[in-house]
Amino acid sequence: MSKLAVFASGSGSNFEAIASAIEKGSLDAEIALVVCDRPGAKVEKRAERFGIPVLSFYPKSYDSKAEFENFILQQLNDAGVELIILAGYMRLIGPTLLRAFEGRIINIHPSLLPSFPGKDAIGQAMKAKVKISGVTVHYVDEGMDTGPIIDQETIRISTKDTREEVEGKIQAVEHRLYPAVIHSLLQDKSIGTRR
Ligand code: GRF
Repeated sequence: MSKLAVFASGSGSNFEAIASAIEKGSLDAEIALVVCDRPGAKVEKRAERFGIPVLSFYPKSYDSKAEFENFILQQLNDAGVELIILAGYMRLIGPTLLRAFEGRIINIHPSLLPSFPGKDAIGQAMKAKVKISGVTVHYVDEGMDTGPIIDQETIRISTKDTREEVEGKIQAVEHRLYPAVIHSLLQDKSIGTRR
């Protein structure tokens, strides 16, 4: 069975959606490790509830990104991880992990890329008053939300929508789309060869 690592910095609702899909049997995989760069983040408690080990670390206690990524890499290799799933990991992946996991790191972003990359994509979309936004799952490269797109789904934004309502629409799509995309990537064995 394919082993995944989920990287998250915050709430971890996408982690939970993936873990639940595995429990329900709609995603044939195992989350071997959760990697969290903000000790105390809500995702840790969610992982605990699923009995999944968490590697939490303070990036500032390392001299460089290469140093903490080497530490992470060792744990990923020990756990036999094949695919890295970024789910609200608020940090660019550096050359150490990109090289070791080339074509095997994916991310979910709450906009229709290439529109609204970077922080607060939902706020950016609302400020721009777009009528259609959505969710993108893409491969990760060295840029900020720039890697090849794997799949996208749209949502409509009405002028009456509050921020919470737009967030709710985005999350509903994310929680369905991410497990489904991971499932099909693992099924068609394209991981590592698609780019
Ligand atoms: C999601 O909106 C995801 O698209 C973005 O960060 C958010 C993470 O939310 N990359 P959660 O921590 O999974 O609830």
